[in-house]
Amino acid sequence: MCGIIGRVGRDDAIESLVTGLENLEYRGYDSAGVAIQNGAGIKVEKRSGKVTELKHALDYGSLDGEVGIGHTRWSTHGPPTDENAHPHTDSTRDVAVVHNGIIENYASLKESLRAAGHTFTSDTDTEVIPHLIQQYLDEGLEPEAAFRAAIEDLEGSYAVTAMLAGEHVLYAARQGSPLVVGLDEDGFFLASDVPAFLEYTDDVVYLEDGDVVVVRPDGIEFTDLAGNAIDRRPETVEWDPEQAGKGEFDHFMHKEIHEQPTSLAQALEGRLDHDAHDVTLEHFPPGTFTDIERVQFIACGTSYHAGLYGSIAMNNAGIPTTTHLANEYEVSAPPADEHTLVIAVTQSGETADTLSAMRHARDQGARVLTVTNVVGSTATRVADDVLLIRAGPEIGVAATKTFSSQAVMLLLLAQRLSQDLTGASLANLEALLADLQSFPDAVERVLETTDGRRLATQYLGCQSYFFIGRGLGFPVALEGALKFKEITYEHAEGFASGELKHGPLALVTPDTPVIAVFTGQEDTKVLNNAEEAQTRGAPLIAVCPEDHQATTIADAHLPIPDVTPELAGLLANVQLQLLSYHAAAGLERAIDKPRNLAKSVTVQ
Ligand code: F6R
Repeated sequence: MCGIIGRVGRDDAIESLVTGLENLEYRGYDSAGVAIQNGAGIKVEKRSGKVTELKHALDYGSLDGEVGIGHTRWSTHGPPTDENAHPHTDSTRDVAVVHNGIIENYASLKESLRAAGHTFTSDTDTEVIPHLIQQYLDEGLEPEAAFRAAIEDLEGSYAVTAMLAGEHVLYAARQGSPLVVGLDEDGFFLASDVPAFLEYTDDVVYLEDGDVVVVRPDGIEFTDLAGNAIDRRPETVEWDPEQAGKGEFDHFMHKEIHEQPTSLAQALEGRLDHDAHDVTLEHFPPGTFTDIERVQFIACGTSYHAGLYGSIAMNNAGIPTTTHLANEYEVSAPPADEHTLVIAVTQSGETADTLSAMRHARDQGARVLTVTNVVGSTATRVADDVLLIRAGPEIGVAATKTFSSQAVMLLLLAQRLSQDLTGASLANLEALLADLQSFPDAVERVLETTDGRRLATQYLGCQSYFFIGRGLGFPVALEGALKFKEITYEHAEGFASGELKHGPLALVTPDTPVIAVFTGQEDTKVLNNAEEAQTRGAPLIAVCPEDHQATTIADAHLPIPDVTPELAGLLANVQLQLLSYHAAAGLERAIDKPRNLAKSVTVQ
């Protein structure tokens, strides 16, 4: 959350900064701002609202200068006002800073800075940073030393980029929040995430916690906080800018739903071995996990639902597996040791709750494996093992294509673990491998034939929407409800279908459609539960194959191809993604940037 962009180059920085902010807006969109170093000192423009509002207000003529920083904010300390927008400056406006993360000791720093005569104009924790730098400059330190001294005073998590009037330099530091350097022919970028500058370069250096960089037009120094040189090598990322654009779609979310045949094919590429009736996971050959006795999943939100999906497949294979919300893990997890494999599922690899749970698991001696989309993310550095889902950039705040790729990767991992822990393959491996081979085509069929838009329109304006499923259908029901509520702002809940009669049935009326997911596992019970709701007046929408028994009683039907239960749930999920999307489009919601949310939640 919060997006940082910085530029030091040979040409004016403003255009690439604004492009960077637009590309980073999925990280937060409460307010935005830029600061440019020009002949007259540092010029700051910032305001509450989206980047477009800032863009329309910019007077480009007055913002010439080759060095600049920008920021798009997801509020933590203080409401989204002009004053709280970044960049923040000290009282003299000689230092400008953008920051992502939380400065935990900001209150005490603010108090001592106030005592030293500093005046603050915002409610943010960030504002202490430019004041601290100024304080050290006033005490006689050189700019670089003043920056390092200020960083040394900070407790908490941060990615910070600062610039000082009169200098063609950016200073940056990272501790617990992501920061990457982009290198092009004309200079350097600093950003929270690679898509910020993907139009300009795909050569990047991922910074690590404790890194401090000093960026000048002709070079960059990578150091630790004490100033010792460190070795950081550039790598080339494989995402292209077109992938990161909206193409023919109105929203990134719609585009990303439609990208699933491709993202799934990428995820599966080279990982199915039909001849050997097995999976091939790079870095995880047979025998990799023979020391493991149990599995614990940790994740948040949609990734938690993917974890739940994987854990059901693993439990079905006889692997003792539990699933935990990452933010609850430290207070409620069962014990872990060196025979525990903790699987952290995280699209971004930067979710603070998940990273904290990963560190806790490592402290307990567990082996930590992350299933992630982002190469070089913090999760990949904290984990012992990494399994990449290769979904490509996901810009819409609501996770879609990454959920299906996570779930599929966890099914493959279930096979590897099943062999290593129980000596046997998954019970229906043969059918699963065959269906996986054609899975991208099955998803394509759902996308081509869906009736999601019509149904979304028909049921728009109901009081609540209940999603139910059993076994592998349960995480899909949870995910269907999460997607629906986050982008439509309508009330939606997901339930294990058997749980309806233990309380939620009291809420069921003709104004509460029940959307039932049928995977081929225990469908009769799901149908009974769905009928119990329908008897009480709820319209029933069945997500199941064409010739399924549920279609004979359902009020409406979202069809899926007939595949193994492990994959049926994921096809149903594509239908639910489309249902949510079209409902939100009908309500004219901010689909790619739902209110109050951000793509990458880097605070706890
Ligand atoms: C919902 C959504 C969130 C994320 C959650 C974890 O559509 O995207 O619930 O799944 O914030 O994020 P990652 O997977 O990046 O750890």
